[in-house]
Amino acid sequence: MEIRRSILSVPGHIVKMHDKAAHSEADVIMFDLEDSVPVGSKKVARENIVDSIRRLDWSGKLLSLRINAVDTSFAYGDVIYCVEHCGSMLRSLVLPKVNHEGDIHFLARLLNGIESNLSPGHPISIEACIETAQGLERISRIAEASSRLKSLVFGIADFTASIGAPLTTLSAHGEDDTSNHSGHRWHYILNRIVTAAKSHGLYAIDAPYGNFQDEEGLIDSARMSRLLGFDGKWVIHPGQISIVNEAYSPSEHEIELAKQILEAHKEAEINGRGAASKEGHMIDNATVRLAEKVWEFAIQLGNIAS
Ligand code: COA
Ligand code: MG
Repeated sequence: MEIRRSILSVPGHIVKMHDKAAHSEADVIMFDLEDSVPVGSKKVARENIVDSIRRLDWSGKLLSLRINAVDTSFAYGDVIYCVEHCGSMLRSLVLPKVNHEGDIHFLARLLNGIESNLSPGHPISIEACIETAQGLERISRIAEASSRLKSLVFGIADFTASIGAPLTTLSAHGEDDTSNHSGHRWHYILNRIVTAAKSHGLYAIDAPYGNFQDEEGLIDSARMSRLLGFDGKWVIHPGQISIVNEAYSPSEHEIELAKQILEAHKEAEINGRGAASKEGHMIDNATVRLAEKVWEFAIQLGNIAS
């Protein structure tokens, strides 16, 4: 299992941010060629990204690249230039505004061609951003479109625009989705994305939180999406990384619960019981499966000894 708790979006044209990203604790660095790069800087952004990927030390991090959407004049050039120059270092390409499974087929075939010429050593994965009404409608077909699919990512601000919902904050990236709505404004969409992702063995990745000075808001947002089953969250500022890493890791409380569950289950098995009882709580195989997941992830993160 890859660790994909925090995914730092780094504007492709701004080299000093690449240096900052290389020294960060983000699990994934996502170089951006799309919305954080002005149209006039798209070409220089490609060149700067390739140069930084080759020049800096990225050990311990996964590298990904968000290209422009397939209906732009930039997408094919983004893929060909960057994958030909540093494909062996790239784990995934992030495709924005995926509206149709054909968008995934286009990118997968382009990658097939480049990889058959250059053999980068591993197949480059695709991460699909679900950020339009059309994309959400076709999400199951998108999720099964290619064996290259690695994750489904919620694109919150574009989704809001796509359905014509109102603008409620300065960034429109999740800062005020509970106060004007009973429950969470994007609850259905978040659940839909998680279900489609997990039923196809993909990661579910949440949208970034736009107010990078609001730590409490970020904690709430990350906690909520993790509770729904998301594996990680995009971050747009280095100050958000440690909060998100913690939010998507098992807490000490969870690890302690897992320990108690696994012990109680072992004891129940010795006594010939499938279900165990602990302090008035029933523990059965489903509880155990959950506890095992927590335990394994905590081991992978190095939070407990194996
Ligand atoms: N990646 C790497 N470094 C970043 C960064 C990022 N996404 N965002 C900020 N930094 C760096 C800055 O360069 C600065 O470095 P320095 O201390 O060496 O000068 C430091 O972190 C503090 O930045 P700060 O001054 O607080 O931020 P800002 O006001 O200049 O920029 C944003 C704020 C939101 C514009 C900026 O964080 C950004 O561009 N984020 C990425 C946006 C993006 O990728 N959007 C598309 C995906 S949704
Ligand atoms: Mg978007």
